[in-house]
Amino acid sequence: MSSLTYLGTDPGASKYGNFINYYDFHPAKERLDGFPTNIWCVDKRDTRYACLDVGCNSGELTQNLWEFISANLRLKSDAAECGQIADCPKQSSVDEVKCMMLGLDLDQTLILRASEANTRKDLIHFKHCDIMNDVEVEQVVGNFFGVHNQKLDCDHKFDVVFLFSVTMWIHLNYGDPGLSKLLCTATKLSRNLIVIEPQLWKCYSAAKRRCTRAGGDGFPLLSNIKLRGNEAIEKEISKILSEAGFKKIAEFEEPKWKRKMLFFQHSSVRM
Ligand SMILES: C[S@@+](CC[C@H](N)C(=O)[O-])C[C@H]1O[C@@H](n2cnc3c(N)ncnc32)[C@H](O)[C@@H]1O
Repeated sequence: MSSLTYLGTDPGASKYGNFINYYDFHPAKERLDGFPTNIWCVDKRDTRYACLDVGCNSGELTQNLWEFISANLRLKSDAAECGQIADCPKQSSVDEVKCMMLGLDLDQTLILRASEANTRKDLIHFKHCDIMNDVEVEQVVGNFFGVHNQKLDCDHKFDVVFLFSVTMWIHLNYGDPGLSKLLCTATKLSRNLIVIEPQLWKCYSAAKRRCTRAGGDGFPLLSNIKLRGNEAIEKEISKILSEAGFKKIAEFEEPKWKRKMLFFQHSSVRM
């Protein structure tokens, strides 16, 4: 996709959720109200904390996430119990750990905007990439970690993968198998946390309505989707992530936005 496209004259009628004015309506800062401060932990030996934001749009939430995590990075407490959200004592040497962020989006124009507005070009990178295209993902992630033409291994995983308001667009365009693939990709790319903010089921019909009204095809795969309803979708997310060793450690609903944020952590991780 090479330009900011929407259907007809309605910038809210979009096929991929690549809205041109998303953060005018959903201010990025508010989205992090109530976001947990105590789960962003690094090991003593770590020199970086790597974050991936899938479907970053024009990058405003990505930059806010980077600031939030940078301010809240802590060293893992040796004494803390495995699998618990523990309050890790903040220690001065955490300042030596670099928080790095990669934001990916399908829309090149949004990536260009995000890059232009980027205030930390040394630590935040925005790249054009279709998360459903394994070859593109491998290349872009490889470049981020400084490896080229070589298979990615566990040194090339992110500490956290964010899927904010992107699951529905993949689900609408690729059906149930597409949603599973997205979640599997997230499990392969994360070595610690996966944070998901799924859209509510009512948003699916709203997206279809706007798309059809604007002359689009209204998502032909929608009628084949078997995972219907908030509960069914959440259950499937938990199932796929738990099969890959991630268990839910927290969830909360952002008060204005009304969407749930689900926090999963790999069972091998000790806080
Ligand atoms: C509704 S916006 C959400 C933006 C941001 N994550 C947030 O919550 O503030 C969804 C974004 O996902 C992107 N997107 C949709 N399908 C994608 C794909 N296959 N690969 C990468 N990005 C995709 C769209 O271009 C759009 O910018």
